[in-house]
Amino acid sequence: MTEREDEDDLAPQRQDGERQVELSIRPKSFAEYIGQKKAIDNLSVFIQAVKLRRDVLDHMLLWSPPGLGKTTLAHIVANELGVGIYATSGPAIDRKGDLAGILSNLKRGDILFIDEIHRLAPVIEENLYPAMEDFTFDIIIGEGPHAKNIKLPLQPFTLIGATTRAGMLTSPLRDRFGIIVELSYYAAEELMEVVRRTSRVLGIAIDEEAVWEIARRSRGTPRITNRLLRRVRDFADVAGQTRISLELARHGLDKLEIDAVGLDRTDRHILKTIAQMFNGGPVGLNTLSAALPMEKDTLEDVYEPFLIQQGYLQRTPKGRITTERAYRHLGMKLPTVQPDLFASRPASEIGDGEPDAD
Ligand code: ADE
Repeated sequence: MTEREDEDDLAPQRQDGERQVELSIRPKSFAEYIGQKKAIDNLSVFIQAVKLRRDVLDHMLLWSPPGLGKTTLAHIVANELGVGIYATSGPAIDRKGDLAGILSNLKRGDILFIDEIHRLAPVIEENLYPAMEDFTFDIIIGEGPHAKNIKLPLQPFTLIGATTRAGMLTSPLRDRFGIIVELSYYAAEELMEVVRRTSRVLGIAIDEEAVWEIARRSRGTPRITNRLLRRVRDFADVAGQTRISLELARHGLDKLEIDAVGLDRTDRHILKTIAQMFNGGPVGLNTLSAALPMEKDTLEDVYEPFLIQQGYLQRTPKGRITTERAYRHLGMKLPTVQPDLFASRPASEIGDGEPDAD
């Protein structure tokens, strides 16, 4: 079966070599997978039950910020079940015929993995409902009064949908998933395990202090952990060092402008923009995205979740505000007027004044 190995975020285009490394370090089984213990424990039960009954796994929705392992997990589920997987993404399926082709090629029990499932075209989504529910695909033959609806039978399959935005799924689609799994940011100790495992797989020698340094600056995200490890290895190789020490890890991470709590230049730019241009906020999403400038989706999906989770940013009904913690971290003075006082100012004074979507 052909397979598109798409990642579950807005990853920039990478060189083939990097891509190969990334695929080689991906865990292939639950035994190799680190973290997300509750989700993994439950999934193991569901998979065991399906195997006992010789059944087909229920449709599953994976939901988390980017980089936490949704794609990896979908492949592991396929491996654990011993079934095939066809991976694609919501925006890649733009014609009904594409969907018909994909679905009719699935064998019993196979997995169809759709990344960014919240970005499916409405017409594709509607055609997915009968496929998910009754394993049939509706085809219309002919036109006008003579048009006929034919139900094409499909092999029972499992749809695994991945999204960074569960709130953007329509309820008819969301309701058709029998298993919903939310992945959360990893603890630093779990990311230390990821650093150790990846170092082993890649044959990198690394000191424990360096393991900790990389883990704690990884924004709770294993994809970032692995990326930072590979970049630090570059610094080690060029410096002629065969082992990654704490000093070397710090040097590499400082060069990459990842600060002590794992914020990168873009994170700090977002916080500084709100603090300096909007006096700490509240600032509406449209205004902020134009001021940075940055796509709204990228801001909301990639950057804000971690800044919010770490208490540097808040979403309020009037817009985004930076917190006292952000000012302290950036070494900036707190504004004399507190953000909640601005909230009563006219919308025109606080940017676009648009209500935030969430
Ligand atoms: N690499 C990336 N994510 C991982 C995980 N959750 N466990 C092991 N290795 C990983």
